[in-house]
Amino acid sequence: MAGGQVFPQAQLALITMLALQGTGAVKVDHVLSQVAYYQRTHPSTESGEFMFEFDNDEIFHVDLEKKETIWRLPDFGKFTSFEAQGALGNIAVLKKNMEIMIERSNRTRSQIVAPEVKVFSENPVELGEPNILICFVDKFSPPVLNITWLKNGKEMMDGVFQPDFSPRQDNAFRKFTYLPFIPTTDDYYDCRVEHWGLAKPFLKHWEAQVPTPIPETTETVVCALGLAVGIIGIIAGTVLIMKGMKMNEARNPRGPL
Ligand SMILES: *[C@@H]1O[C@H](CO)[C@@H](O)[C@H](O)[C@H]1NC(C)=O
Ligand SMILES: *[C@@H]1O[C@H](CO)[C@@H](O)[C@H](O)[C@H]1NC(C)=O
Repeated sequence: MAGGQVFPQAQLALITMLALQGTGAVKVDHVLSQVAYYQRTHPSTESGEFMFEFDNDEIFHVDLEKKETIWRLPDFGKFTSFEAQGALGNIAVLKKNMEIMIERSNRTRSQIVAPEVKVFSENPVELGEPNILICFVDKFSPPVLNITWLKNGKEMMDGVFQPDFSPRQDNAFRKFTYLPFIPTTDDYYDCRVEHWGLAKPFLKHWEAQVPTPIPETTETVVCALGLAVGIIGIIAGTVLIMKGMKMNEARNPRGPL
C-alpha cells in the first residue's frame, strides 16, 4: 500500500434535489446532484471536488486550481452559467469542517475500499472503424486513484478524456476514462488502475474480439459433401428418368412402321 493517509473527515456533501412528478404517489423522474468533498490524503496533500450531476452524468465541475467552471459538453455553457467562486466558498467551509472532524475522530483514517474495473467499447467493434474504449472504475474509496491507458503495453495520453470522480449512493466513488481508438486485430489495450486498496497496479486487458473464421478443412469438407450430394442427386435423377422411359416403352411398344 502506498503511504496514503486518508481521514474519514473527507467531506462528501451530496445534496440531492428530486424532481417530483404528479401529486399523490411520489415518482422520481430525474435527479440533480451537487457533489462536493474535501480530503487530506497526506499531511501535505489535500484535494477536493465540486460538481453537478444530472441522472449520474456530470454537467460541470469546477477546476479548483484554475477557479474555472468546466462544462462536460461545451454547449452546456451556452444555456446556463455557474460562478466558480461559489464553489470555492463551499470548499473552504468543507475544509474547516474537515479540520474539526479530524480532531473529533482522534485522527481515525477512513476505510480503503478497492475498485472494480471493467473495460468495454462504446460501439460494437468493427475492425478499422473509429470507436471509443471505456474504462469504468467503480465502488472505490477514497477518491484517490490513477488510471492509465496502455496500448500494446505502452502508455497512451493522446485523446484520453477523464472526467472527475462521481459519487455513488453508498458513499464510494466511480470514475470513467475514455480512449478513442481504431480496432485492429494486432493491437491490445490495458486499463491500468492504481489505488491504495490494490496491492499492486491492476491491469484490465482488452482486445478486439473478431469472430473466428471457420477453419479451411471444415470448409473443404462441407464443400465436398455438398458436391457429393449434388452428384448423387443427378445420378438418381438420371436413373429414374431412364426407368420411366423404359416403362413407357414397355407399355407402348412401337410397332414396325
Ligand atoms: C486517541 O489516539 C491516541 C493515539 O493513538 C490514543 O492514545 C488515545 O487513547 C485516543 N483517544 C481516544 C479518545 O480514542
Ligand atoms: C499515482 O501516481 C503518482 C505518480 O506516479 C504516485 O505518486 C501516486 O502514489 C499514485 N497514486 C496511487 C493511488 O497509487
